[in-house]
Amino acid sequence: MTASFPAVRARRLRAAPAWRRLTRETRLDAGQLVLPMFVREGAEAAIPIGSMPGVVQHSLETLKAELHRAAAAGIGGVMLFGVPEHKDAAGSGATAADGILNVATEIAAAEVGGDLVVQTDLCLDEFTDHGHCGVLDEAGRVDNDATLERYRDMALAQAASGSQLLGLSGMMDGQTAVVRAALDDAGYGDVALLAYAAKYASAFYGPFREAVQSSLQGDRRTYQLDPANRREGAREVALDVAEGADIVMVKPAMSYLDVLADAAATSPVPVWAYQVSGEYAMIEAAAAHGWIDRERAIDESLVGIVRAGADAVLTYWAIEVAERIARA
Ligand code: PBG
Repeated sequence: MTASFPAVRARRLRAAPAWRRLTRETRLDAGQLVLPMFVREGAEAAIPIGSMPGVVQHSLETLKAELHRAAAAGIGGVMLFGVPEHKDAAGSGATAADGILNVATEIAAAEVGGDLVVQTDLCLDEFTDHGHCGVLDEAGRVDNDATLERYRDMALAQAASGSQLLGLSGMMDGQTAVVRAALDDAGYGDVALLAYAAKYASAFYGPFREAVQSSLQGDRRTYQLDPANRREGAREVALDVAEGADIVMVKPAMSYLDVLADAAATSPVPVWAYQVSGEYAMIEAAAAHGWIDRERAIDESLVGIVRAGADAVLTYWAIEVAERIARA
């Protein structure tokens, strides 16, 4: 073998930790992590979620404590979900000023609104007795335009409670435009919109259904995207941008990195990704069996999502990872 072979030696830059640190292309920052949080009406203590070890349904008291932990960890924000005691066909709890999500939002805005971006899930599924993201027509189908009226009222209730960023996760046509117009008319021009633009009908939402005690029978395939469709994801992103979304989201994250990369390449607004409950549960479960290195798997999953193009990531590990970054 001649001394000069091979001429190209890519391993030089991997030879030692200092080299690897210096040549690293993607870095996680605590400020780009958002923590989803569940708040349960009537709860007197935190209630564990079996399929999401380490994640709980908060009481209003434990919510406060966790909000301050989140702020101290330096993450970017929190996304609040409500778990109401009573559900009905219209999802009345979503728009009531004393509904659990609106009450929790007021608390979050007051406690940490200056340090974190306080965000709220704008969708009816936690509040409807049938579990769908919208209201139903007489034939039992999800009625797009009747749902938009509910979303408009929900947006106003959330803005009044102090939400700074509304997470439009219902996948109704026209939802971003309708909510933007309603907020502007009511003087909430500063409230921003996060459009779950490309949200797929995914099996990876399974543990979330336990987390919010969903009453859904059937599935959401008439409104969420078919997992097979990449072009359609790009179309939904473009529609939400045109309707006035301030940020667009791809969800889930790990099985949709191509959709995420497409959005990152074309979107004029920030692109976020949601590492959903099933993605969390899979890593926790495998780690609990000793089958993977838990911390490395978590960090690798997140760096992969950011490498694919996410500007920020919703993840149930937000505080843990932020604290790890701070120690590194
Ligand atoms: C709908 C909503 C869902 C999730 C976030 N918002 C559930 C669904 O669409 O079925 C899932 C989040 C997760 O799985 O972590 N309000």
